[in-house]
Amino acid sequence: MNYKIAVIKGDGIGPEIVDEAVKVLNKVGEVYGHTFEYTEALAGGAAIDKTGVPLPEETLEVCRKSHALLFGAVGGPKWDSLPSEIRPEKGLLSLRKELNLYTNIRPAIMFDELKDTCPLRPDIVEGGLDVVILRELTGGIYFGKKFTEGDYACDCMEYSKYEIERIAHQAFKIAQTRDKRVTSVDKSNVLETSRLWRKTVEETAKKYPDVKLNHMYVDNAAMQLVTNPKQFDVIVTENMFGDILSDEASMITGSIGMLPSASLGDNNFGMYEPIHGSAPDIAGQGKANPIATIISVSMMLKYTLGLPKEAQSIEDAVKKSLKDGYRTMDIAKKGEKAISTQEMGKIITENIK
Ligand code: NAD
Ligand code: IPM
Ligand code: MN
Repeated sequence: MNYKIAVIKGDGIGPEIVDEAVKVLNKVGEVYGHTFEYTEALAGGAAIDKTGVPLPEETLEVCRKSHALLFGAVGGPKWDSLPSEIRPEKGLLSLRKELNLYTNIRPAIMFDELKDTCPLRPDIVEGGLDVVILRELTGGIYFGKKFTEGDYACDCMEYSKYEIERIAHQAFKIAQTRDKRVTSVDKSNVLETSRLWRKTVEETAKKYPDVKLNHMYVDNAAMQLVTNPKQFDVIVTENMFGDILSDEASMITGSIGMLPSASLGDNNFGMYEPIHGSAPDIAGQGKANPIATIISVSMMLKYTLGLPKEAQSIEDAVKKSLKDGYRTMDIAKKGEKAISTQEMGKIITENIK
């Protein structure tokens, strides 16, 4: 079959990592007899430079005509002093909001081959790690009322019951396919939105009696993630808490360059991107790890295109490459040889069977 994929490379390391992910996807197409038709579109700093805005209407149209979107990363020092409405990050946030992609799935899975790269004591991650962080992506403090008046600034954290309910349903459904445990993370000892969050998640839980639910405050969750990460199966949380906890979880798996994500809504369209940013400090040097983006493509095959075998072939190819000892700079141990972004992409591509 022919699949239409929108591609936004973005800024910094975005183009480098997306190029490698596309090579992997093309190889999957060759091996399994599919064609992927790519349409490139602009967002972020690259879009600001060319069109003056971080998310041109044309980009949204390209996405709406595609089965899925592959996204690199946006942002960088060049655009940091622009007003918030025309910053690169605003382009990404508008894309998520406009396409109603409220469920952000961020799986933190530790590959056995990378257990020495985890900065935690070996006994803490003995037996590996497999946690899914479900981040609410279109609400909360990111999208609440905000303004600056002289020396005063305000960002409101806002949630409606409806927004909490729909992400809670997703959390319980995903848990049903796993170890049937959900930890809902909030700050209900302080925040009104968190009290509504906790109440709504508890009500929703009644429809999923086979899933065990517990609650945890976000400060404790941040601590528990590095002392006993294996206690978690599915973590569901609001937008900003999920942003922060997923960067923390990524390091347990070895590097932020390893963590993929899927952003889904109510129709079959999905957006796929690594959780990391545009890494301006290493951009254009072939140092970036492309694996988070490559596994994001695997998630695209699984969640949006309904091709589980093909998705598995990417995971297997990544595992094989790591097993054979190939490492980009971020996951190489001291003194170990690191390969480039492009070499890692090539090796993973060759391992697609
Ligand atoms: P970052 O994730 O870009 O980088 C943090 C650190 O991790 C850096 O040292 C970087 O070199 C390293 N890193 C990130 N990805 C890597 C990879 N694939 N391989 C190896 N190392 C990697 O976060 P930041 O420095 O806080 O932000 C930089 C820019 O990216 C900012 O403009 C920010 O707004 C933007 N950003 C964009 C996204 C996105 O587009 N989804 C996400 C986060 C940050
Ligand atoms: C992410 C990023 C974005 C976010 C920024 C760049 C808007 O950190 O995708 O995790 O905070 O959602
Ligand atoms: Mn983030």
